[in-house]
Amino acid sequence: MGQELTIKNVNKSFEVNGEKINVLNDINLDIKEGEFVVLVGHSGCGKSTLLKIIAGLEKNDTGLVAAGRQEITEPAADRGMIFQEHRLFPWMSIERNVQLGLKGLAREEKKKLSDQYLELVKLSEFKKAYPRQLSGGMSQRAAIARALATQPKILLLDEPFGALDALTKIELQEELLKIRSRCGNTMIMVTHDIEEAIFLADRIVVMSARPGRIRDVIQVELGKYRDRGGSDFAHYKKKILDYFFEEKAAEPEYNI
Ligand SMILES: Nc1ncnc2c1ncn2[C@@H]1O[C@H](COP(=O)(O)OP(=O)(O)OP(=O)(O)O)[C@@H](O)[C@H]1O
Ligand SMILES: [Mg+2]
Repeated sequence: MGQELTIKNVNKSFEVNGEKINVLNDINLDIKEGEFVVLVGHSGCGKSTLLKIIAGLEKNDTGLVAAGRQEITEPAADRGMIFQEHRLFPWMSIERNVQLGLKGLAREEKKKLSDQYLELVKLSEFKKAYPRQLSGGMSQRAAIARALATQPKILLLDEPFGALDALTKIELQEELLKIRSRCGNTMIMVTHDIEEAIFLADRIVVMSARPGRIRDVIQVELGKYRDRGGSDFAHYKKKILDYFFEEKAAEPEYNI
């Protein structure tokens, strides 16, 4: 596996009302081609910011972020992003939404690609429908098809299933793994759901509360078919939760 992404000594701060807040603190992470990396951490620790830096939507203050040998300075078609909300345009059919990023291609070529990816996410029947006619899970599937249609090497997913019910979420997690094995994308995902992280990830990056630092990178050695109820699964869950409880215990108000 080749090196896909290099994140080296990355710092990021924002200025809010004249005050500087440190959001990311010395982030170092190398991601291999085809790897599935999941980021977990407290709300506000900078997970979305890190994903946006990788997407080229935010700029790091210091350090290097590179895809292959190319430093990332702006968004590019080889990095697709999926957000918590589907962000489909309500006035366009699902098919047109999926074709949105396919610039400079002939109409037939666009159609071929949107058909291909709508089939992959099991939405072929709904290509002429409008977003309002789809359920939450279906809309998120359409957003996945749209991101995949440009055939990005890296797929960035920011809590893509956060708003879905538990069963739809499980279904989409399984579909995402199938898509990954068919398309071979490198996946970098943010989630609040620890079970989701363990089910999907090759490696889980545990971040500390703001300013976000990497506390641990956990290699998930559970093989391809993962039993959510298994004892090995529970072992990883405890390990990750312990990091959060440890941080909580250090807060003064927690020990009153
Ligand atoms: N454009 C911005 N301007 C100012 N502050 C920002 C901006 N974007 C993010 N922040 C701040 O940076 C911090 C990290 O935000 P970020 O969205 O990366 O957190 P997160 O880990 O994704 O949180 P959550 O889990 O709640 O989504 C927060 O304190 C937020 O207020
Ligand atoms: Mg976020």
